[in-house]
Amino acid sequence: MQTILVLHNLVRWLILLFGFWAIINAISGLTGKRPYSANDNRSNLLFMIFCDIQLLLGLILYFNNGWFNQLTSNAKVVMKDAALRFYTVEHTLMMILAIILVHIGRSSVKRASTDSQKHKRMLVYFGIAMLLILAAIPWPFRAGIGRPWFMSF
Ligand code: HEM
Repeated sequence: MQTILVLHNLVRWLILLFGFWAIINAISGLTGKRPYSANDNRSNLLFMIFCDIQLLLGLILYFNNGWFNQLTSNAKVVMKDAALRFYTVEHTLMMILAIILVHIGRSSVKRASTDSQKHKRMLVYFGIAMLLILAAIPWPFRAGIGRPWFMSF
C-alpha cells in the first residue's frame, strides 16, 4: 500500500501539469482564434488518462487502507472527525466529481462543431475540474489533513 500511496502522491503533480497545460491551450486557442490542434487533443487526453490512473490508485487506497471500513462500521465517529471525514467522504467525492467532469468535457469537446466551441468547452469543463481538484488536495499547509508535497519510495 505504501507504493500505491507514493504513486498517488506523485500522479497528483502529473494531473496538475497536464490540467494546466490543457487550460492554457484552451485560453490561447480562444484568444488567438487558433484552430483546435493535435496538441490541444494531446493535452486533454493526457489530463484524462492521468485522472483515470489516479482514480484507480485512489480506489485501491480507499478499500485497502481501511477508509471504507471505517465509514461503514463507524459513520457517526467518521463524520464528526474532520480528518477522517476528509479522506472517507470529501476528498473522494470531490475528486470523483472532477474526474466525471473531465470525461464529460472531453466527449463534449469531440462533439463540438467549431474550433472556438472546442476551446470554450475545454476551458469550462477542465477549469471547473481543476478547481475541484485544487480544493480537494490535502496540501501540506491544510491543518489536520495535510500530507507532504512529495514522497519517495
Ligand atoms: C485528481 C484526483 C486525485 C488527486 C489529485 C488526489 C491526491 C491525493 C493526495 C496528494 C493524497 C495524499 C497522499 C499522501 O499521503 O502523500 C491523497 C490521499 C488519498 N486519496 Fe486521493 N487524489 C485523487 C483522487 C482520489 C480518488 C478518486 C480517491 C478514491 C476513490 C482517492 C482516495 C484517497 C485516499 C483514500 C487517500 C488517503 C490515503 C491513505 O493515507 O491511506 N483519491 N490523494
